[in-house]
Amino acid sequence: MANYTLKVNGEAQQVEASPNTPLLWVLRDHLDMAGTKFGCGKGLCGACTVHVDGAAVRSCSYPVSAVGDLEVTTIEGLSEDGSHPVQQAWLEHDVPQCGYCQAGQIMNAAALLNKNPDPSDEEIRSEMLGNICRCGTYTRINKAIKTAAKKS
Ligand code: FES
Ligand code: FES
Repeated sequence: MANYTLKVNGEAQQVEASPNTPLLWVLRDHLDMAGTKFGCGKGLCGACTVHVDGAAVRSCSYPVSAVGDLEVTTIEGLSEDGSHPVQQAWLEHDVPQCGYCQAGQIMNAAALLNKNPDPSDEEIRSEMLGNICRCGTYTRINKAIKTAAKKS
């Protein structure tokens, strides 16, 4: 066990955990932030996507010891009131079906727009490829990202 001070959604959080504990467990079990979902646990589905210093990471495969001073942002902290352009576009296109994958989809899309504010259709497909949706909402996801890019 070791003690960590993590910057999560703008707040310092004290956590005691083994160094190899996945960030996902820390968020959900230690910090009670259930917005980030567990899917495969192996970095294959994208359900657990959060931002570390603005870039998308799979929190199920990211050890807490690797976070250091980097800023973690979860779906709870993407915006205070759901006003992030990606969240607004998700509403406009009524993207979610069951919703399970959607926090990860939104975080991955927001990270994509952080680094590429005007992505092509091919860039969107390629960046979102690792986020699986068992309900098949991909067409609406792609449309919503285009809309969010225009509003960003
Ligand atoms: S739960 Fe992390 S990628 Fe599937
Ligand atoms: S909306 Fe159901 S898994 Fe994506």
